Amino acid sequence: MFVKNGSVPAVVLMLACIGLALALNVVREEQAVPVKETVSIGKLCLAKDVAEPHARFLEPANYGVRKKKFTIGTGGVGTFFRAWRNCIDEDKSLATTDSEEEQHAIERLVARQDTEYWIAATNLGSGTPELTWITTDLVVKTTPRNFNQVPDTCVSVDPDGIWKNNDCFNISIVLPYICEEYF
Ligand SMILES: *[C@@H]1O[C@H](CO)[C@@H](O)[C@H](O)[C@H]1NC(C)=O
Repeated sequence: MFVKNGSVPAVVLMLACIGLALALNVVREEQAVPVKETVSIGKLCLAKDVAEPHARFLEPANYGVRKKKFTIGTGGVGTFFRAWRNCIDEDKSLATTDSEEEQHAIERLVARQDTEYWIAATNLGSGTPELTWITTDLVVKTTPRNFNQVPDTCVSVDPDGIWKNNDCFNISIVLPYICEEYF
């Protein structure tokens, strides 16, 4: 686990809450402020802490200075959008490949497996064949040779590293998925 950029304000907020709660406890002991008030302030702090956004944990600007690691998602099989959510729930993102080297890393991961895996490329609803990485909102610049994307496709990668078109809406098309994380 690495420290997220957004977690510093959360920690500061938490410390502020603890400080406030301690201060209130002192006040309560001295002036007999009702216990109820202290409790409700504690809940308010907790609610703010939980509301800290969870997804999109890295800015694209950070990508160049961190090392990317691919793993097979632990949530079993699902639709493309389920896979996208599952990676986020695992504190990761659906896999993107920005170079031939990264494509090869994926190929090593899926080699000799008996299934295709979702990666983050789609052009669903865009009206153009151009693909976008759903993880980063960036255009897909590198695709394997001989991949011809069709409209409204969600992309999977087969054990040979070949990209495949899939119907994004067909709930019968359930596949495992590859997540990425940075460290
Ligand atoms: C959905 O996918 C399944 C499995 O590939 C296929 O048999 C079925 O015909 C597809 N349904 C539609 C509506 O395309």
